Amino acid sequence: MTPILRMEDVHYSYQGSSGPALQGVGLSLWAGKKIAVLGRNGSGKSTLFLHCNGILRPDRGHIYLAGSPVKYDRKSLMELRREVGIVFQNPDDQLFSANVLQDVSFGPLNLGLSKEETRRRVEAAAEQCEISDLLNRPTHALSGGQKARVALAGVLAMEPSVIIVDEVIASLDPWMREQILGILHSLAADGKAVMLATHDLALARYWADLVVVMEDGRVLVADTSDSIFSSDAMMAHLGPKVAGAWWRRVGEKVS
Ligand SMILES: Nc1ncnc2c1ncn2[C@@H]1O[C@H](COP(=O)(O)OP(=O)(O)OP(=O)(O)O)[C@@H](O)[C@H]1O
Ligand SMILES: [Mg+2]
Repeated sequence: MTPILRMEDVHYSYQGSSGPALQGVGLSLWAGKKIAVLGRNGSGKSTLFLHCNGILRPDRGHIYLAGSPVKYDRKSLMELRREVGIVFQNPDDQLFSANVLQDVSFGPLNLGLSKEETRRRVEAAAEQCEISDLLNRPTHALSGGQKARVALAGVLAMEPSVIIVDEVIASLDPWMREQILGILHSLAADGKAVMLATHDLALARYWADLVVVMEDGRVLVADTSDSIFSSDAMMAHLGPKVAGAWWRRVGEKVS
């Protein structure tokens, strides 16, 4: 079987920065699987995600979409972005239309879909993300959690095969959080690959199939959620890297 998206030995340094943000990351995203990416601030999670739809291009290494190496011409990038949708860590980086309806419609219209198909997708995505009553609101006048849901609706309206969510779950109230995690779970059950960055260990444990821990631009561990969280030795090892001062209690908290 071929993963939908595969990263191989990806290296990346931001221009002008003193050290690399990614130093040899390999990771596969499989249809039907949910991945949680953990790791301290600055460990490279967002940088890795931005490589997944070609916003950043590796200095070294390769990214494969359905087994074919990603090329970076305009047409290939359009194709990549149709397949891989990302909800950015900061929704203000994502929302640029005057109102919510225009924002959620932007992706499908840009794909060249008809007005009818666009409307169908926008309505379905708006309903899923519970933003139907916000469609006529100006995007700048929304709360943080509402912006996050609008950004997710914009991604869902593209009907991508890979959905990547960078931390925004943290900005949602507990009700919406469960709703959105439920939606992401159903998308995986429908055969999509879903990946999210989080600092929430309990979420990683109960929601994810695979847990990836990043450190200093590398994948420190990638394993099933069950095997990571059921190993005391692994939890003791990972504790300081994913749970800060609470690490001694990680084992108690999650087991
Ligand atoms: N635009 C940028 N220009 C220069 N350096 C950057 C830029 N964005 C990130 N970095 C650096 O790259 C490294 C990885 O950052 P990244 O944002 O990928 O981490 P992260 O794991 O997503 O962190 P967080 O949990 O805070 O979101 C850090 O050292 C960071 O300072
Ligand atoms: Mg980040």
